[in-house]
Amino acid sequence: MSEISRIKETPMSNIFQCVYEDGTVRLCTKNLTPGHSVYGERLIRYDKVEYREWNAFRSKLAGAIMKGLRESPLTVGSKVLYLGAASGTTVSHVSDIVESSGKVYAVEFSPRVVRELIMVAQRRPNVITILGDARFPQRYRTTLESVDVLYVDIAQPDQAEIASYNADFYLKQGGHLLLAIKARSIDVTKEPEEIYRREVDKLNAHGFEVKQVVNLDPYDKDHVMVLATAPKS
Ligand SMILES: C[S@@+](CC[C@H](N)C(=O)[O-])C[C@H]1O[C@@H](n2cnc3c(N)ncnc32)[C@H](O)[C@@H]1O
Repeated sequence: MSEISRIKETPMSNIFQCVYEDGTVRLCTKNLTPGHSVYGERLIRYDKVEYREWNAFRSKLAGAIMKGLRESPLTVGSKVLYLGAASGTTVSHVSDIVESSGKVYAVEFSPRVVRELIMVAQRRPNVITILGDARFPQRYRTTLESVDVLYVDIAQPDQAEIASYNADFYLKQGGHLLLAIKARSIDVTKEPEEIYRREVDKLNAHGFEVKQVVNLDPYDKDHVMVLATAPKS
C-alpha cells in the first residue's frame, strides 16, 4: 500500500480516516498503546500521533461506519459493556475511542479466546476482561457499573433478549445499544430481511427506540448493525 497522505476527522467522536497517496481511504483510531498493534493492523504516524488502521472486514462496527452509520454513541470517557468480545479486535478500537477516562467491560465466555483478550487488556487499563456468559448478567454485577453504551456481538439466536436483559441491569436511561445481528445464527430457513424485522420488533417491544439498521454487506454478508436508544424513564 502507498504512503499516508493525511488523516481526516470524521463527524464521529475520535474516529478518523486515513487517506493514502493512491486515494485509498480507511478508518483508523488513535492508538492508546503506541508501538503496539493488536491483530496485525497497520500503525500510522502522522503529526506526532500514532493511529491504528481499523479493518472493516475484521470489525462489524467499522463495517457499519463504512456502510453509513449516521451517529456513533462512543466518545471519550464512555463506559461500554461489550458482549462477545472474542480476542479483542473491535474491543481494542473501542478502547482507543473512549480513551483512558472511559471503560470497556469486555464479556466473553470462551476460555480459549479470553486468554488472547487478556493479552490485549494487559496493555489497555481501560479494558476489563470478564470471563462470563452474557445470558447471566447478574453474575458479573460485582465488576460492573452502569454504562452509556451496550455493544452486543454474540451471534446467538436469542441475542435480542440477551441484549435487553443486560440493558435492564446495566444500561443507563437514554443509553445506546449497538446490536450486530447475524441472520444465519438466528434462523437459516428464513429470509434475512424477515429476521432483521423480527429482531427489531423485539427491541421495540422492550422499549428501545431503533434509530438505524445498517446492512454490513460486503464486509459481513447477511448481517446488520442496529443502533437503538433505551427509554429515558
Ligand atoms: C462474532 S464473535 C465476536 C467478534 C468481536 N465482537 C469482534 O468484533 O472482534 C462472537 C463472540 O461471542 C462469544 N459469545 C457467544 N455467546 C456468548 C455468551 N452467551 N456470552 C459471552 N460470549 C459469547 C463467542 O465466543 C465469540 O467469541
